Amino acid sequence: MNGTVYVTRRAHFSASHRLFDPSFSDERNAEIFGGCSNPNGHGHNYTIEVTVAGPPDPATGFVVDLKRVKQVLQERFLAFVDHRNLNVDVPFLRGVNPTTENIAVAAWRQLAPHIPAGTLHSVRIFETENNFVEYKGE
Ligand code: NI
Repeated sequence: MNGTVYVTRRAHFSASHRLFDPSFSDERNAEIFGGCSNPNGHGHNYTIEVTVAGPPDPATGFVVDLKRVKQVLQERFLAFVDHRNLNVDVPFLRGVNPTTENIAVAAWRQLAPHIPAGTLHSVRIFETENNFVEYKGE
């Protein structure tokens, strides 16, 4: 009998953003969002980790073929966000304040339909080395 094994693919992307609520003043946004609310934006070197989970397939020994996860991550997420402005360039973030939390939820929604059903376990986004969020689906 095979127990659950967790398999993770990691990738990096660079992007700019500004965190703000357009209905607030610049001062109020600065109080809430700090340096991430600087009006002209700034960049982060992000890391994303996509974890799939399940019993290894008895034939292949794989939970999910990681080549598939790598390809889906590239085509459905990284191609849209790498070297982009997250406030304006990314269709699936339109109208969304690009906090790390919201990026993780959006990444999950981009990836889940293209990864074998029920195997996507978590999406982690690191905005800095020390700050990261994790999303495990709705
Ligand atoms: Ni920021």
